[in-house]
Amino acid sequence: MKKRHLVTAALPYANGPLHIGHLAGAYLPADIYVRYLRLMGRDVVFVCGSDEHGAAITVKARKEGTTPRAIVDKYHAMLKDTFEKIGIAFDIYHRTSEPLHHETSQDFFRTLLKNNQFEEKESDQYFDEVAGQFLADRYIVGTCPVCAHPEAYGDQCEKCGSTLSPTDLINPKSMLSGSVPVMRPTKHWYLRLDQHEQWLREWINTGRTAEGGKQLHNPADWKNHVLGQCNSWLEQGLQPRAMTRDLDWGVDVPHEIPGSEGKKLYVWLDAPIGYISATKQWALDNDKDWKPYWQNDDTALIHFIGKDNIVFHCLIFPAILKAHGEFILPVNVPANQFLNLEGRKLSTSKNWAVWVHEYCEEFKGQEDVLRYNMIKKMPEQSDSEFTWKGFQETNNNELVNNLANFVNRVLVLMHKYYDGLVPSVNPDQSFKSGWDAEKTGQYNEELHLLHQKLEAMGAEIERFDFREALRIFMEISSAGNALLQFNEPWKTEKENPEMVKVVMNLALQHVAALSVAARPFLPFAAAKLRDMLNLAPLRDEGDLLDVLNELVEGNPIVLPNHAIGQAAHLFSRIPDEVIQKQIDKLTATDPAPTTTEQEQPNTTPSPSKYEPLKETIQFDDFAKMDLRTGTILTAEKVEKSKKLLKLSVDMGFETRTILSGIAEHFTPEEVVGKQVVVLANLAPRVMMGTESQGMILFAEDSEGKLGFVGPSANGWPNGMGVK
Ligand code: MF3
Ligand code: ZN
Repeated sequence: MKKRHLVTAALPYANGPLHIGHLAGAYLPADIYVRYLRLMGRDVVFVCGSDEHGAAITVKARKEGTTPRAIVDKYHAMLKDTFEKIGIAFDIYHRTSEPLHHETSQDFFRTLLKNNQFEEKESDQYFDEVAGQFLADRYIVGTCPVCAHPEAYGDQCEKCGSTLSPTDLINPKSMLSGSVPVMRPTKHWYLRLDQHEQWLREWINTGRTAEGGKQLHNPADWKNHVLGQCNSWLEQGLQPRAMTRDLDWGVDVPHEIPGSEGKKLYVWLDAPIGYISATKQWALDNDKDWKPYWQNDDTALIHFIGKDNIVFHCLIFPAILKAHGEFILPVNVPANQFLNLEGRKLSTSKNWAVWVHEYCEEFKGQEDVLRYNMIKKMPEQSDSEFTWKGFQETNNNELVNNLANFVNRVLVLMHKYYDGLVPSVNPDQSFKSGWDAEKTGQYNEELHLLHQKLEAMGAEIERFDFREALRIFMEISSAGNALLQFNEPWKTEKENPEMVKVVMNLALQHVAALSVAARPFLPFAAAKLRDMLNLAPLRDEGDLLDVLNELVEGNPIVLPNHAIGQAAHLFSRIPDEVIQKQIDKLTATDPAPTTTEQEQPNTTPSPSKYEPLKETIQFDDFAKMDLRTGTILTAEKVEKSKKLLKLSVDMGFETRTILSGIAEHFTPEEVVGKQVVVLANLAPRVMMGTESQGMILFAEDSEGKLGFVGPSANGWPNGMGVK
């Protein structure tokens, strides 16, 4: 285990407000991770800040007819405020326009120069003759060579996510004047990325920077899609990359360097150095030393980002850190994929978004509901989707019916039976376990189970599997509910008061565990719970560790005779009107969302012949499907239907009639005798006057061609389960 952690979350451009995609992508996972580390008593610093340079800012200033300075001041303040309101607990939220940052990045540049990491090169770059200036990549628009999106930028296509350079664009145009840009020579400093390619490849894939070198991380801990993107870059070979630009907004190339006039640092050089300047400022403010966090290899450096930032954090910034010579490398870059909204890609320009500051205004006091939903839908391994209906259901079913309801029942009953004083228990008294109705519970053993769950939850957080961690968190609440449900204190209190004491005491220990464990996910609810239980506010200094240490010994978290407080409101039902209002608001900004618009949910840049992966499901979801082997006995066309074949299928235990939409692919003769896999517990459906009693599985390729899916051996028995 590393001695200390430095956690970074991508510096957002100070050119617009925060939307839920940002939140789910980088900030919330980082916040959960950091809050958990604090609860475990670990030494951690969490830095972020506004990225205030680059064309993202100047483009916005042009659009709003104002100065870059005015833009960054406005959005920096707004971002900072939004992060606070939604409970993202940075140790510092800095800005890259601060002098400390300018000095820090200029020093970096000097060191890289001194270390011979640059090659000065003259090259032809796009120049706008009408506007009279060189064009930043962002100022050039054209057709994406990968997906043919007509409005790709010179550095990136926002539709398919591909990283581009301006010369990749088909039919480039200047955004400044609309003219077709021309090529002009200009001189820049190029980082010799080609010289870093070999160790980067080794490092990404083995966790060592050289064969036989020290193991810095385990690549098995990195997400597959992160490794995949890095390797696809590495396969293409790394080229020297310009670290300066002809711009008038940004960090100056240090003035003593010949040829520095009019040149600024490339924003992707200065922005990640912003993590370092932020740490320096934090150290100044807190009388600490920043260096161990960046320069000792007993520090775990972890970057939380969205997938569009992967190569910058996994290849380019590490190369910069190594080129400098005095810095450590990240031990993990747990990038998330994209969150879509109501079936479409989030889009700032089209206002297809849920803005976090608006949410905080309209759902005051319900910040945790958004956090909960974002975690539940976190695009950890593949793109995921937020819907307002899902938001409502999750709130009503999980936060209200499960969590809030459990807490409320416990507090009310505690007051009713014991005047709010935690009862002492006979540890040998048996009852029904909340984890299994069939099982007889025993007090200390149940505390051990609670310990196990909390540990399992923590382990998932440490693996960056926040969805799973949240699921385990909610399991604790469900088990608490079940404990009450199985033992029914409201019925048994009179005849079996000793049993009810144990049950209530245990239920209260569950609430107490939740009051700590909720902190990473639902910090506002956690604080309320502490209050309701009349327990001290969390200190963020090992509170969870303390709880684990008690439970592992079989000791309760809250001792007998502790006086709890009153039940208060934790979560409340969200009615349909509130949700409808949000849906209306969204569709009002874009009245005609059609699927022909290239607004299909975005996916990882991947060969388009593969469908995007669906959301991760739990084993239970899979286990609900009853898949069986079967053999098609007869097949006939269905009158008046082009698509359907009516099949009878031998399922072993019975023969089923199934209508299958395969008539355009196979003749009846072709399918008779084929062995297939049938979804046998699909609700029956009447089509063309016939009831279909199941569904047959087929493979489908990108052209819509179908292939049979069945047991590989002929003569396999029918009716067997497929698992
Ligand atoms: N501003 C960039 C973006 O929003 C992220 C910068 S991350 C940093 O995509 F490492 F450069 F800071
Ligand atoms: Zn594209």
